[in-house]
Amino acid sequence: MGVRRRRGVTFVVKAMGLLIWALALFWVEPVVGGRHGQWLDHDKEGVLGSGDQVTDLPGQPTVGFRHYAGYVTVNENNGRALFYWFYEAAARPEEKPLLLWLNGGPGCSSVGYGATQEIGPFIVHSDGHGLRFNPYSWNKEANMLFLESPVGVGFSYSNTTSDYTILGDNFTANDSYAFLHKWFEKFPSYRNQSFYIAGESYAGKYIPELAELIYDMNKNPSLYINLKGLMLGNPETSYAEDWQGLVDYAWSHAVVSDETYSTIKRSCNFKSDDPWSNDYCSKAVDEVFKQYKAIDIYSLYTPTCTPHSTESEVERMPVRMFKSSSKMMPRIMGGYDPCLDQYAKVFYNRADVQKALHVSDGNHLKNWSICNHKIFDDWKDSKPSVIPIYKKLIAAGLRIWVYSGDTDGRVPVLSTRYSLSLLGLPVTRPWSPWFHEKQVSGWFQEYKGLTFATFRGAGHAVPIFNPSSSLVFFQSFLAGESPPCER
Ligand SMILES: *[C@@H]1O[C@H](CO)[C@@H](O)[C@H](O)[C@H]1NC(C)=O
Ligand SMILES: *[C@@H]1O[C@H](CO)[C@@H](O)[C@H](O)[C@H]1NC(C)=O
Ligand SMILES: *[C@@H]1O[C@H](CO)[C@@H](O)[C@H](O)[C@H]1NC(C)=O
Ligand SMILES: *[C@@H]1O[C@H](CO)[C@@H](O)[C@H](O)[C@H]1NC(C)=O
Ligand SMILES: *[C@@H]1O[C@H](CO)[C@@H](O)[C@H](O)[C@H]1NC(C)=O
Repeated sequence: MGVRRRRGVTFVVKAMGLLIWALALFWVEPVVGGRHGQWLDHDKEGVLGSGDQVTDLPGQPTVGFRHYAGYVTVNENNGRALFYWFYEAAARPEEKPLLLWLNGGPGCSSVGYGATQEIGPFIVHSDGHGLRFNPYSWNKEANMLFLESPVGVGFSYSNTTSDYTILGDNFTANDSYAFLHKWFEKFPSYRNQSFYIAGESYAGKYIPELAELIYDMNKNPSLYINLKGLMLGNPETSYAEDWQGLVDYAWSHAVVSDETYSTIKRSCNFKSDDPWSNDYCSKAVDEVFKQYKAIDIYSLYTPTCTPHSTESEVERMPVRMFKSSSKMMPRIMGGYDPCLDQYAKVFYNRADVQKALHVSDGNHLKNWSICNHKIFDDWKDSKPSVIPIYKKLIAAGLRIWVYSGDTDGRVPVLSTRYSLSLLGLPVTRPWSPWFHEKQVSGWFQEYKGLTFATFRGAGHAVPIFNPSSSLVFFQSFLAGESPPCER
């Protein structure tokens, strides 16, 4: 697949008069084989994506903004469609930037995590039967676009099963990029808005990779996307540093013994191509995960989800076991309320919910789960380090903020500090606390071209733990100002 330029489109548009001409300016060169005339048909209300507007989501609190959900076809030949959920900003959306939010995995859903547990306006109730309003939703500040990528994640799918066998970083970046252009066709008024990408965890790879693709393709003015910056939370960044940070953190937070740690120090060379070929190393790292399995690696000091009576129905949060054949890091899911994943699963598998979100007709349901473990296991390519991309994007003048919940054991604050130190950036503002509600919310340090900040006492998915300070932090990011420095 790829980006194909469709010159034929322009002439269709010419006939449509000045208003449409103005819209056309924003998408002169759409991509990836679409039926471009089609959108003109549903331009009834001047909102091209209006067919995707969500009007009857069960249990939804009443709100004063519109939201849209549905599919965008990213590849017609193979029948690949990505699912998105888009919330307009709560007030004056036309003046607010556009934020794309990505969760990681690989294989996990930005709808299940980002939208309904972290920063979206509607959080799933603990009974799985409704939603509650999130007063700290980031759509206070931005138009929020949540994307389930690649195909196989959440509601996103491909009609060509062989597509599922070639998923990796590269494939994901390509399809996400195609998605953006096709999405802008549906929502042309956002075409030129300031655009940011944010996310967590394995999106630490996705985000720089997609940003680089946008940056490179922006050399073609007709494909221009107004990318302004990136924000990455507890991001996977560089294998060697991420692994080193993980084991150092486990030891320094009393998860493993001195003996295990010293074996790791003696026998693990995380910079080698296959650190696991050393049996001592492999066994000692297994021991780290054995200990982490008993608690929530994503949030060291909160309880794990313990299923009640319906034990068989409730999937135990699986630890993706450490595999000596693969450098892929293991995963388990968790959060402040570690049962949330289950609530989301119940909610998104309801027929009325799927119908309201334009996912199914209410009869032929899609099988939604928060993470697709097969995608995780079969992942084809993963950049060992995105630090070279950081360098390129910093040089390009993009705003880059990296934050870290400091009670996460999975991509711990140490991993992030080791990784960022590879950049060797000059410090422009030394380590100092930042504040929220008169307390130290974390620390931050500013570098030439990058801001690094911690969230004190927050786990992997920071906004679940610190919703209100996360929103404040996001405001600072958008404003290009330091986080609040006064008590
Ligand atoms: C991604 O797109 C590039 C450029 O069009 C193409 O060369 C490459 O093969 C694509 N990769 C995948 C995995 O689809
Ligand atoms: C996938 O196949 C189904 C059933 O034929 C069809 O309704 C749907 O439009 C196809 N999806 C895409 C993206 O082409
Ligand atoms: C994907 O891989 C192809 C071929 O190796 C390369 O040309 C292309 O730039 C890559 N795309 C991305 C987004 O990394
Ligand atoms: C689109 O964005 C570019 C870059 O920020 C800006 O120069 C241009 O004036 C904008 N055009 C419109 C129509 O808003
Ligand atoms: C849904 O997916 C899960 C795992 O992804 C699988 O175990 C289950 O059988 C599927 N259910 C249906 C109805 O396809």
